[in-house]
Parts: sequence; structure tokens; C-alpha cells
Amino acid sequence: MTSQLHKKGEAWSARFSEPVSELVKRYTASVFFDKRMALFDIEGSLAHADMLAAQGIISAQDLADIQRGMTQIRGEIERGEFEWQLDLEDVHLNIEARLTALIGDAGKRLHTGRSRNDQVATDIRLWLRSEIDRIGTHLGDLRSALLDLAEQHSATILPGFTHLQVAQPVTFGHHLMAYFEMFSRDAERMIDVRRRVNRLPLGAAALAGTSYPIDRERVAATLGFEEVCTNSLDAVSDRDFAIEFTAAAALVMTHISRFSEELVLWMSPRVGFIDLADRFCTGSSIMPQKKNPDVPELARGKTGRVNGHLIALLTLMKGQPLAYNKDNQEDKEPLFDTVDTVIDTLRIFADMVPGIKVREENMRNAALQGFSTATDLADYLVKKGLPFRDAHEIVAHAVKICSDRDIDLADLSLAELQKFSPLVGEDVFGFLTLEGSVSSRNHIGGTAPEQVKRAIAAARAKLAK
Ligand code: ARG
Repeated sequence: MTSQLHKKGEAWSARFSEPVSELVKRYTASVFFDKRMALFDIEGSLAHADMLAAQGIISAQDLADIQRGMTQIRGEIERGEFEWQLDLEDVHLNIEARLTALIGDAGKRLHTGRSRNDQVATDIRLWLRSEIDRIGTHLGDLRSALLDLAEQHSATILPGFTHLQVAQPVTFGHHLMAYFEMFSRDAERMIDVRRRVNRLPLGAAALAGTSYPIDRERVAATLGFEEVCTNSLDAVSDRDFAIEFTAAAALVMTHISRFSEELVLWMSPRVGFIDLADRFCTGSSIMPQKKNPDVPELARGKTGRVNGHLIALLTLMKGQPLAYNKDNQEDKEPLFDTVDTVIDTLRIFADMVPGIKVREENMRNAALQGFSTATDLADYLVKKGLPFRDAHEIVAHAVKICSDRDIDLADLSLAELQKFSPLVGEDVFGFLTLEGSVSSRNHIGGTAPEQVKRAIAAARAKLAK
């Protein structure tokens, strides 16, 4: 009775007495997104088949047939000719069914000692590993673009801010190198995450391992995995690596978003520190004068979706008992979208940064306002013997007077400055200038042009490695 119902793709086996409804079929299917991993699925299957043959579990002829069939399937997929079927649920069953249609019984032997549970975990790790490598390349491109711009502006001065209030003058090169640091940590984090992605789940089978005499080390070596997952229950159910990756990706986007916020601010005509090339901006359909920094704004916005994917994955895992549960199928779309968002964003930024037009005069004028060298005057008095707190008080008083008269500290005469403290000498003006201020911060991590140049040289050497 049941066998009539068991038409291809409609029910699992003689175990079932009715097929799933169309709605449930669509609800449970993943092929329309997981087909993205198809080439990795084939790579994993070939490594598995190679091991089965080496262990005498399938024949050499079976292996040869599987290899031939998979070569053809790979070609069909690459040429866009492969017919993906919703009825066959996911990428794994689609490829296996096609293989069996092409080569017969050998195709049916491929799944010996394997489950889709360890198969999918392997595929996603292979896929993610290659995407992490691409992200590393794009992070490198962005970092080198930042270095080039920083080098051109190692001595360009703008106000540094705290609380968005003018604080002290800094060099623009130094400011850009702060982002270089962030993206360098991101690159490090990706390399670190990759180590835990790069472990082989295959061999765990459904959850408990398999009774066939498999050789997991051989499969790991074939696929370039550094290690084998050492507990079968954990191997099929672990998605820590996906969460870690998404967390690292969320930090990449967070850094992009902070940078974007500054680009938007700097491009506002009120600030006018930079201009972005036209191809990264759009106009307004109603206001003819507008040139909007759409790319940084959108990148700032897209950070939200990557953060969302991180929360989605954490939530996906929090309630799952061991071992595999179908919930895990929901790991893919957040991961895919995270990778797409990060890669597109990094590529655009690497392209946009070299075209940032820096308005040095505006930066300089802004630094000349807001008493950005007040700390330098205080430090000057300290070096002449005054305790820092007293110097701070004296300079605060001087700033108040200048502010009332709408002038800068450097506009005061020597005699006027001496009224605040007799310790002030002729040499004070060397400390009140923007150049004097930045070049005096000449130590590792300081904003002096000389230090910025050194940091850039060190960074270049690191990037070349
Ligand atoms: N499409 C499934 C996934 O993405 C493959 C594993 C299915 N395993 C199972 N026992 N139903 O997780």
C-alpha cells in the first residue's frame, strides 16, 4: 500500500504512508539557497569516495564512475545547465540523484558511511574557508588604500575631537592609520577564525560515527583541513565557527560604519574636510544642489543587517539539544548574506578611499579654531616648572579671555601672555602653532608626522608579509 505512494521525491521511503504537502515541501527545502555550496559538496563527496575506495569499502571502478559522474555534474552546474529540483530538497540530494541517474549503482554507494549531517557541516566549512580567504584579500586592498592616503597626508593637520568638540590638532595620516589598525585586527581575527573553521566533521555520520573502517585523516588531508573534529556529536551540531565568523564580520562592518560616519560628517558642507568621487554619491530628485554620500550611509546601514545575522545565529543555537537538528539549516542564509555584504562593502571602500579629495585648507582652519593648542600651552608651562593643575587653570583663564575677545591663543602678544604667567618666554609661539603641537607628539603611537611615516613604513612591511 505504501509503495504506490513512494513516488520519486514525494516521500522518504516505505516508512511513510503519505507524501509531504506542497507547502511543507517548500518550507523544508533549502536547495534554492544551499545550491551555492554545490562545488564544495562535490569536492567533499570526491574526497569521501576516494577514502572509501582506499579503504576497500567501495571498488576502484565505483570510484572511477563517481569521479566521471561528478566531473560531468560540475560542468553542468558551471554552465548553468543543472536542473535543481525542489522535490529533492537540498543541494546534497540533488547532486546525489543526478549522479545516480548518470552512473547507476556506484552513485548509490557514495553515501556509504556518511550522513547529510556530517556532509552539510563539511560543505559549509569548505565554503566559508574560501570566503574567509577572499575577505582577507579585500581587507588587504582596503588597508593598502588607507596606507597610501595616510602617506600623502602624514603632515596634513585637522582638529582631533573628543565629544565631537575640538580637542587637539592631529595629522590626517594619523587619523587614517587608526582605521588601518582596526582593519588589521579584523584581518588577524579572520585568520584566527579560519583555524576553527578548518576542521573536518565528515566521518561523524549522522551523529555517532560509523561502523565502516573509515580513514578520517585521509579525508582531512585531501580537503586541506588542519584537524579532524574529535567528537562525532559535536562535529555534526557545532556551529560555533559560523557564529565566530559572523562576529568577526560584524566587527569589520562596525569599523566600516564608524569610518562611514566620519566620511558623511566630513563631507557635510558645514565641515567640508573631504569630497568623495562622484561615482560614490547620488543627487536628489528634488534638490538640484545635493550630492549625497550614499555609499558610506548605506554601509553604515548594512552594518545593522550583519549584526542581525550574528544575533540570528546565536539564537539559532541556544536551544538546540545534541546532536543535529533541522534548525541548523537556518545557518546558511545569514552566513551567505554576511559574506556578500562584507565583500561588496570592502571592495567598494577599497575603491573609494584612493579617490577621497582632502580639503587641507578647511581642515587647517578648523584646527585653528577651538583652542586646539591649549594643552600645548599648559604643557609648556609645566616644562617651565609649574605643576600641571596650576598650568591647566592658567590656560583655562587665558582661553576664557580669548574666547570673549574672539581671538586665538596665538593671537595674544607676549606681554599679554606673560600677564597670565611670568614663566612665558619668546619661545612660547613655537608651541602654540599647529605644526609645533603635532610634531611635539613624537613617540610610538603619537601624531607627529615623523611617527606617522614610521607607522606607515612598519605597516607596509607587515602587509607585504
Ligand atoms: N539541508 C540540511 C541542512 O542544511 C542538510 C542536512 C539534513 N539532515 C537531516 N537529517 N535532515 O542542514
